[in-house]
Amino acid sequence: MNKPILEIQNLSVEFPTKNEVVGAIKDISFNLAAGETLGIVGESGSGKSVTSLAVIGLLPTTAKVTGNILFNNPRISQESYVNLL
Ligand SMILES: Nc1ncnc2c1ncn2[C@@H]1O[C@H](COP(=O)(O)OP(=O)(O)OP(=O)(O)O)[C@@H](O)[C@H]1O
Ligand SMILES: [Mg+2]
Repeated sequence: MNKPILEIQNLSVEFPTKNEVVGAIKDISFNLAAGETLGIVGESGSGKSVTSLAVIGLLPTTAKVTGNILFNNPRISQESYVNLL
């Protein structure tokens, strides 16, 4: 397999709400090489949008994100997306 351009490692997202903590996605890992396409399939509420929004840094600021998102190798945090634009 070609060297991955995007690496998602053990990605989890939780949303603290008034009454509980909503676990939206838990321990997701995948790699993508340049030019590859990945389809994400799952029932409503399974976390497809939350996964995608986490990768592009567009989750609400209340979201608690753990794990690693690596693009071209450096780890990018939610705070550092602005530096990529
Ligand atoms: N801002 C938020 N605050 C609290 N919970 C949220 C928030 N956004 C998403 N969730 C919860 O995270 C989980 C995953 O939702 P997500 O929207 O990623 O599902 P989905 O797979 O995209 O569903 P659909 O097929 O309906 O688009 C759901 O339980 C959802 O209620
Ligand atoms: Mg969705």
